[in-house]
Amino acid sequence: MSSDPQRPKSQGLEDIVLDDATVERLQEMGISRRRFLGYCAGLASLMALPPSFIPKLARAATSPAKPSVVYMSFQECTGCLESMVNSFAFRGGQTIDNLILNLISLDYQETLMAAAGQQSEEWRDWLITPPDRSNPPHPHPEYSQAGKYILVVDGSIPADELSGYFVSGGRSGVARFCEAAQHARAIIAVGTCASFGGLPKADPNPTGAVSISELMLQRDIKKPLINVSGCPPIPEVITGTILLYLTNNYTVPSLDNYYRPTKFYGRTVHDDCYREESFEEGPYARSFDDTNAKRGGCLYYMGCKGPLTHNACATIKWNQGVSFPMMSGHGCIGCAEPNFWDRLNTKGQKGFYYAIADEPYDGHGGDANCSACHDGDGDFGDDHDEHDDD
Ligand code: SF4
Ligand code: F3S
Repeated sequence: MSSDPQRPKSQGLEDIVLDDATVERLQEMGISRRRFLGYCAGLASLMALPPSFIPKLARAATSPAKPSVVYMSFQECTGCLESMVNSFAFRGGQTIDNLILNLISLDYQETLMAAAGQQSEEWRDWLITPPDRSNPPHPHPEYSQAGKYILVVDGSIPADELSGYFVSGGRSGVARFCEAAQHARAIIAVGTCASFGGLPKADPNPTGAVSISELMLQRDIKKPLINVSGCPPIPEVITGTILLYLTNNYTVPSLDNYYRPTKFYGRTVHDDCYREESFEEGPYARSFDDTNAKRGGCLYYMGCKGPLTHNACATIKWNQGVSFPMMSGHGCIGCAEPNFWDRLNTKGQKGFYYAIADEPYDGHGGDANCSACHDGDGDFGDDHDEHDDD
């Protein structure tokens, strides 16, 4: 029973039993059971999941059997990993410092792990080589015996193994990825570089970079793939995607045409933008920080790509729910979409500060599965008009 009669009873929270080790860890971190379950409730709400899902989330986050995660970085800037470690913090002052470590056993990550050089290479080789896990080269007290690992990847990869770009531990990026992908349970591509190629693939793409999905097609790697795009992705979206996958018993959640979870990428940032009221008829900002911009006017003519960009920035926001680009006075640059560096507007112009078209254009009502906007060439698809007539 809740001690506060005014406080609505959270369905199922009281019935969840936390194991002693987790309770002890939470106590060490100064986080009460109530706050921890409150976190799970908050996450469920962010993902628009029903209350009945909360116990599942809590169990996944406290399960002693933590799935092994091998996290490998390729051509990237480390912003995605920085974003992921920021998912430790949560809005409303509730800080769960080690949430991600309560969910998974992060067994390999070059930037975070203490091991380096040959020691880390040996450790990774052992992690990705099944089935004998009885004799680890470097004992790891937290290591989980949960089975196949989840492969998390950030960065894009030069498709030509012999190009000389991205060589680590004496092996090309392609070789390193293919080895690790071979026995992975699933692959989660974190960030726009891994999802779509990102900045390394931008014109003129000197390294011949490709996305993880392109490489999987080229190398005939048939594994479940989830893209978590964004430059970087929102911390809660990374954590939430991993949670969705775990709580669904390792089933890939509903995805859009770009393998992104529809829970987070089902709507455009424009659909939920608080400036949307002025999208159709103004007032419009005509320069940054002008009166209309300050009054909440639409940033469309300042180049905002919100109408074509699927992400949860306007709902989940950034920095524990503090703000998002349009709230800070800058338009969306489309960082969660393919080819966002090279995308052309309807007049063939390329650049973050060119409007999408002469007149306000809002895509197709936030349909994440619409391919008309994304023909892979970096500009608007030829079938726009056809789609509009549907
Ligand atoms: Fe918001 Fe940009 Fe859409 Fe204007 S165009 S309503 S600023 S997302
Ligand atoms: Fe990226 Fe646009 Fe969000 S630029 S951070 S998807 S508002």
